[in-house]
Amino acid sequence: MGTIKSRMVVAAFLLVGLLGGVAWAEDNQMCVPMGDIVLKSISSEAKRAAVSFPHAVHFSYQCQKCHHQWNTESMITGCSTAGCHDLTEAPKDENGKPSKDAKLTIRYFKNAYHTMCIGCHKSIQQKNEIVEATQIQGGAKIAAAGPTGCIQCHPKEE
Ligand code: HEC
Ligand code: HEC
Ligand code: HEC
Repeated sequence: MGTIKSRMVVAAFLLVGLLGGVAWAEDNQMCVPMGDIVLKSISSEAKRAAVSFPHAVHFSYQCQKCHHQWNTESMITGCSTAGCHDLTEAPKDENGKPSKDAKLTIRYFKNAYHTMCIGCHKSIQQKNEIVEATQIQGGAKIAAAGPTGCIQCHPKEE
């Protein structure tokens, strides 16, 4: 962990062992970032500070939970690869109003990140709140949740 972005080159055979049954061409290898990944705005006018994302803290989930287009054979590509979450601003409809076309709005990178990151953290928080309110299982928290507040993810810049 820490702020140093460490990267571990995992040889294909190691990953095969880790993920089970993942097949790659013989000398094909993928570089999996283990430390914090700095997620920056793809727009030239960022309003908020970049987000430090602890990648490996999330490895109790399946990789495909986030890398939802990954077929386990190809290399994992970034979220804002062309044709993915590559729009730098919220799309508008023909009247210049914010688009309501969900297939289009999710291509706006901010919506994609907020939906996924905040969505998951919030759903865990909500489950914890229900458990606390109803005292099911003695009110013990189900799990630690990630941050949902703006400055927890986008720290205030000096
Ligand atoms: C769980 C972490 C998380 C939380 C909480 C969060 N964001 Fe974000 N936000 C991101 C990520 C990741 C991006 C995409 C990378 C980037 O732009 O830094 C992003 C992008 C943005 C962008 C577009 C880029 C820019 O800087 O202009 C804005 C604006 C933004 N967030 C505002 C907010 C506001 C306002 C809140 C609180 C209501 C908030 N965010 C809460 C993670 C978060
Ligand atoms: C909670 C969400 C999440 C999970 C789970 C997750 N990742 Fe990631 N991963 C990300 C994000 C976000 C990035 C940064 C992508 C970007 O910069 O566009 C990333 C980046 C990567 C990259 C670098 C991609 C590039 O742009 O070069 C690799 C490789 C990767 N992840 C592999 C994995 C593997 C293997 C697993 C499962 C063990 C995994 N990830 C699980 C969210 C996740
Ligand atoms: C599928 C659920 C899920 C998704 C998606 C997810 N997170 Fe999390 N996140 C968690 C959980 C669970 C924790 C708490 C882990 C713990 O403390 O053991 C967490 C913790 C965190 C933490 C705090 C880590 C710490 O050490 O205190 C940050 C920061 C964070 N997430 C950022 C993000 C960002 C940014 C994204 C989107 C790129 C994201 N998360 C996507 C589930 C998720």
